This record gives sequence, C-alpha cells and structure tokens, in this order.
Amino acid sequence: MSVMSTCEDPSGNAPADNHDSGERTFTVRVEPLGRTFDAPDSLTILEAAAFANLHLPRMCRNGTCRTCLCRLESGSVRYTIEWPGVSAEEKAQGYILPCVAVAQSDVVLDAPDAADIAPVAPPKRRF
Ligand code: FES
Repeated sequence: MSVMSTCEDPSGNAPADNHDSGERTFTVRVEPLGRTFDAPDSLTILEAAAFANLHLPRMCRNGTCRTCLCRLESGSVRYTIEWPGVSAEEKAQGYILPCVAVAQSDVVLDAPDAADIAPVAPPKRRF
C-alpha cells in the first residue's frame, strides 16, 4: 500500500531503524493509561495495540467512522489510505486515526478510552 499522507513530528526527530531485517519498530505510549507497546511499520497502530492486549476504540478500521480518533501528542505517522477522515484543522491540532496510521517514530497518543485487554487463556485440554 502506498504512503499518501503523513503527519510529521513537530520536533523533527528522524525515525530509527531498529531491526537488521529492515522492518522498523517504534514505541507507542498511550496516555493517560501510561501503557507502551511496540509498533512495527508493518502494522497500523490499532493492530499493534491489539497484539499488545490494548483496546483502542474502533469500529470500521478503515479510516471512515472516526471512532478511533485520538490526538498525537508527539511523534509522526503515515497513513495507509489516501484520504483518512481527518480534517485539515484536526490534522493541525494533532488528531489522527490509528486504525489507518502507522508509526514513523516513537509516538505518544492521548487516547482516554484506551483499556487493557485481559489475555485470553488457552483452552484446557481434556484427556
Ligand atoms: S475505526 Fe473507524 S476510523 Fe478508525
């Protein structure tokens, strides 16, 4: 999928290459929960959060419903779609849609409705 839109880090920090494989992984911190997780550049922030047992509000997961709208406090992202449902004014205020946003640096999000998900225990074997 091509990169059509970006939200640049106002600090100008360049992303780091964290792996020999060429896949870059960044740290996402979600406030006010204070949870952090790794976000490889092969996953959206929403997908990476789910792998880390962190629930972020969501519905469509394709950048149209805006349920996942949250504010990027620091860092930069790129979008996996050409026209994410964020106005120019919202972009200027730092709002992003994590369901279609991929971290391009370490990121801090303000997502008040984020919640930890209890890991699912494997089913018990019956003999
Ligand atoms: S879940 Fe619908 S825009 Fe992100």
